[in-house]
Amino acid sequence: MDKYAVFGNPIKHSKSPAIHAQFAQQCQQQLEYEAILAPEDAFIQTASTFFAQGGCGANVTLPFKEQAFAFADTLTERAKLAGAVNTLIKQQDGSITGDNTDGAGLVRDLMKHQTKLEGANVLLIGAGGAAKGCIYPLLQAGAKRIVVTNRTESKALQLAEQFASYGEVTGCGLNNTPDIGFDIVINSTSSSITGEVPDVSPTVITSCLVAYDMFYSDQQTSFLGWVAQHNQQTQLIDGIGMLVEQAAEAFYQWRGVRPDTSETFRLIRG
Ligand code: ATR
Repeated sequence: MDKYAVFGNPIKHSKSPAIHAQFAQQCQQQLEYEAILAPEDAFIQTASTFFAQGGCGANVTLPFKEQAFAFADTLTERAKLAGAVNTLIKQQDGSITGDNTDGAGLVRDLMKHQTKLEGANVLLIGAGGAAKGCIYPLLQAGAKRIVVTNRTESKALQLAEQFASYGEVTGCGLNNTPDIGFDIVINSTSSSITGEVPDVSPTVITSCLVAYDMFYSDQQTSFLGWVAQHNQQTQLIDGIGMLVEQAAEAFYQWRGVRPDTSETFRLIRG
C-alpha cells in the first residue's frame, strides 16, 4: 500500500493522520498515513529513510519546515516564496519535490467562509514563518493591499520588502499600524497559544468584516475573543479549517483527487 506520513516533534497530538484517513476513505484511495516523531537533530535522516523504504509523500510540521525546504530536490514557486516546506512529494524519477500548501489552505478556508479577497485590505499580524507563507497566496487571490504588522518592527519591514514586487505590501510595528480600513485581519502570531493578544490598537478592526486566527483550540482563541469585544459585527474564524484545507491541498498534490473538506471538518472539529 502507498505510504505517507507526517513528521514533527512533538507529533503525538497531530490531527493529520485522522484527516488523511478520512480523505482516503472518502476518495477511495488505498493508502497508509502515519505520524512519525523525528528526533530534533535528525529530520533529514528520518525523512531519507522513510522515502528509501518506499514512502510516497509526507507532510512536515514544526519544527522541521525549513529543514524540509533544504531536503527537497526541487521546490514549487510557492514553497520558494514561503521559505518553508510542509509537503514532500516523491516523483516518478525518485526525486523529492517540496511544496507549501499552508497559504493555499488559508485562502481556501477564507473562501469557504465566503470572504471576499478580491480588492481587500488585509492586516497581517506577525512576521514569522506562518505570515511569510500566506502573503503570496493572498495576493494571488486578489488582496489589494497587505499591511504586515509585527512586535519586532524590523521583521515586518523585511518581510514586506521581500514581497513588494508581487503587490502592495508594507510593514510596520504593532503600535504604529496605520488605520486604513481593513476588511480582513489575520493573526499569524503564536500569541494565542499563551492566551495573549498582539498589542495592536482596536481601531484597526473597526471596519473589519472577517478576523482570522491561524491558531485553534476547543475554546475561542484569545485573539478572536479580543476582536469580539471590540467589534461585534466581525465574522470570527479560527485555524482549524486552514489545517483541513492545507491537508486537502497536499492530498491533491499526491493523489490527483481533491477531497470534500466539509465532512472532514465536522469530524475534526468534533
Ligand atoms: P511561526 O512560524 O509560527 O510564524 P515564528 O517564526 O517563531 O513562528 O514567529 C512567531 C510570530 O509571533 C512572530 O511574528 C512573533 O513576533 P516577534 O517577531 O516580535 O517575535 C509573534 N509573537 C509571538 N508571541 C507574541 C505576542 N505575545 N505578541 C505579539 N506577537 C507575538
